[in-house]
Amino acid sequence: MEMAPSPDEVFVTVGRELGRIGLACTLALVDPTGGQARTAYDSREAGSAPAAPGLPLEAVDAYRRIAAGEPYVFSPGSLVAPLLFEDRLLGFLSVRSADLAEEAIPALKVFANEIAAAWRKAQLVRDLEESLRQLRLTQEQLLQSQKMEAVGRLAGGVAHDFNNQLTAILGYAEILLMDCPPVDSRRAGLEEIVKAARRAADLTRQLLAFSRKQVLQPRVVDLNGLIEDMRGMLRPLLGEDVRLETSFEPAPLRVRADPTQIQQVIVNLAVNSRDAMPSGGIIHLATSSLRVEGGQGVRPLPAARPGGLPSGLPPPELAGLPAGQYCLLSVRDNGTGMDRDTLSRLYEPFFTTKAQGKGTGLGLSTVYGIVTQSGGQIFCSSQPGEGTVFTICLPRDGSEEKSNGRSGTALPVAGGTETILVVEDEEAVRELVRRTLASAGYAVQTVSTGAEGLRLLQADCQAFRLVLTDLLLPGGVSGLDLAGWVLTAGQGPRLLCVSGYSEQLSAEAMSALPPGSFLQKPFSPSELLRRVRAVLDAV
Ligand SMILES: Nc1ncnc2c1ncn2[C@@H]1O[C@H](COP(=O)(O)OP(=O)(O)OP(=O)(O)O)[C@@H](O)[C@H]1O
Ligand SMILES: [Mg+2]
Repeated sequence: MEMAPSPDEVFVTVGRELGRIGLACTLALVDPTGGQARTAYDSREAGSAPAAPGLPLEAVDAYRRIAAGEPYVFSPGSLVAPLLFEDRLLGFLSVRSADLAEEAIPALKVFANEIAAAWRKAQLVRDLEESLRQLRLTQEQLLQSQKMEAVGRLAGGVAHDFNNQLTAILGYAEILLMDCPPVDSRRAGLEEIVKAARRAADLTRQLLAFSRKQVLQPRVVDLNGLIEDMRGMLRPLLGEDVRLETSFEPAPLRVRADPTQIQQVIVNLAVNSRDAMPSGGIIHLATSSLRVEGGQGVRPLPAARPGGLPSGLPPPELAGLPAGQYCLLSVRDNGTGMDRDTLSRLYEPFFTTKAQGKGTGLGLSTVYGIVTQSGGQIFCSSQPGEGTVFTICLPRDGSEEKSNGRSGTALPVAGGTETILVVEDEEAVRELVRRTLASAGYAVQTVSTGAEGLRLLQADCQAFRLVLTDLLLPGGVSGLDLAGWVLTAGQGPRLLCVSGYSEQLSAEAMSALPPGSFLQKPFSPSELLRRVRAVLDAV
């Protein structure tokens, strides 16, 4: 496609044409307010764009007179004519030549009109090109976010079914292992099955996190405490050549989030930083607070676009956040940095620049999913050779709830003799749970729908000491409905909910569950037994 001439090129062409017939010229443009004229072309400086400052029209006698309505200003050897387009004064054409005579005026006036029309057309074409460029950019962003949504939905759906299968695989493999004498030659094989299933479970967890379908267990945590507690775990991950520095906001920074997920965010960012510093460097973890006043939040950030993704470029200003109080967490490194291309694909699942077997490209998509699902935003600023800084911005929690961000310690496995009602639609999981509980001494009754479970409970709710229910059940009565019934039943049974997927589970619904009453799939039999005992023993 042939490029249309730019407005500047129009002027250059005019200057050349006039030069050919022996006329020197100057073209000046009136600024949009109409108060100043700026020289845009001068044949004496042809070839270089004159960087002339604007002059008030009053300062040039001919400009002032034409602006006041005179059709042109002629003096022997020089003519100044207006550049008029649809009665608007766009600028001035000044022509100079020793032999310029009055007879030339009509032709030059017509020429001035032609110049004005050509310049205006070139300007409109340029505006049109700019609008088209913006439109294309917006379309690309839209396509990108639709793609991410589609991948997210797909990943979430697959991960959901996968979690049920993995629960069964892991569970039965562990049961077989428990039954296997220590010297049995089949042990090694079973151990490999468990290991592989765990790796697969990690992968599904990451996919669920990206698709924002992960079951979060938000509570109020102090970011400072959380990071402080992670030092011990980060150190060995980072290796000897990487120095870990921290700086904290002095006051506690309370946010409402799932602490294990925020830990995962920090680990993923820190490991990326480590990888970007193959011969060592510094990782700086910092927290701070930010208050955004009302009225500043007019410009939506990329991440605030519905269903959209931040492009990772350019570093958005935090002042664009909606008004409110925020806690900031940043991870800075002085590693290789990233080019624009990498920045623009940063959060795509499976996007990696690392060698095969070194990275899966799920780290940042997980981070992105967790942060946005927690109501936060993430920004990245990076340049090749300049290092990288990721900033996460989470809404500050205003409530006074106390928490130290530390996760609970594992309890020993123990069985019991209580009667437990198990509500689970997936047969393999139901059977696994039944066997696990029964083998630990519990009396177990299983049903496959919420309606059946509710019927049993309504008939005699004292019959069960614990209801263990999947949260997503087909049919009219969901696991959440059942959980709600149990929680309001007063002296009724205790509750333990399991799920691998949060399709319809809002954060509010989750936080209505008592602490400790949720177990994420896939789980192992020993984990299940520990949690059942803990719920039964809770005071
Ligand atoms: N701190 C950083 N410095 C330089 N490049 C980075 C940094 N963080 C991420 N990247 C780039 O972004 C890409 C995607 O990161 P992401 O964490 O999603 O995947 P990965 O680290 O390649 O693999 P995985 O995290 O799944 O092991 C990386 O391959 C790397 O090119
Ligand atoms: Mg990574």
